[in-house]
Amino acid sequence: MVEPVKFETKNEAAKYVALYIANSINLFQPTEKKPYVLGLPTGSSPEPVYAELINLYKKRLVSFKNVVTFNMDEYCEIEPTNDQSYDYFMHKNFFDHVDLQPQNINILNSLAEDYEKECADYEAKINRYGKFNLFMGGLGPNGHIAFNESGSPRDSKTRIVNLDESTIIANSRFFGNDTSKVPNKALSVGISTIIDNSNELLFLVFGETKREILHKTLTSEICSGIPSTYLREHKNCIVVFDSEAAGN
Ligand code: GLP
Repeated sequence: MVEPVKFETKNEAAKYVALYIANSINLFQPTEKKPYVLGLPTGSSPEPVYAELINLYKKRLVSFKNVVTFNMDEYCEIEPTNDQSYDYFMHKNFFDHVDLQPQNINILNSLAEDYEKECADYEAKINRYGKFNLFMGGLGPNGHIAFNESGSPRDSKTRIVNLDESTIIANSRFFGNDTSKVPNKALSVGISTIIDNSNELLFLVFGETKREILHKTLTSEICSGIPSTYLREHKNCIVVFDSEAAGN
């Protein structure tokens, strides 16, 4: 079941989402032995959420000391020092500004020698923690969640994926609008990793370019052609969007 929550602006939505996550962590009262497990995305949508979480941390309203994070995806064959790697993004926008313990940060290794092993190990590590307390995500304009493109099986786990032409074009805005610079493969948690392994999902959908996919996510028949429709199979999924995405 999806609960749609609309805000006038992306920034108002980000404040709500950051407070929601901070409250959830505080209520859980994580300890070293019982950490709070948080799934995280990259992209422009979560940026203001990370800024708000840093604010809350600075005001001592939340601590990430006993939080374990898993990022949902990463490009293949991109140096972590490349400013378009998701590793770089996460450190710059969030990790380096809060009290997360480095050993509690998990990101798929873009330079792993054996990608299949990297993905299997990542999935196994997630399973060792049990369920995510909360998985935050965003939507690609084509309805991808993480890098699960159209046609991704419902039971998919962490694996190497080929990016859709439309995703390469959409993400080229971060690579100087040069599609040849966008990696065409990525490592991504699967649809099952997200839907079946999380107590709670919180997805962010902002801007006019997401209007069509927001509508389809909420109303189209649930199918692998539009992976985001699978969010509706989860018992506790909040989709937060702004008026631009809503179209009113
Ligand atoms: C990328 C990421 C997704 C993200 C999507 C949307 O393709 N792999 O995880 O949800 O972008 O990004 P944005 O929030 O910038 O629209």
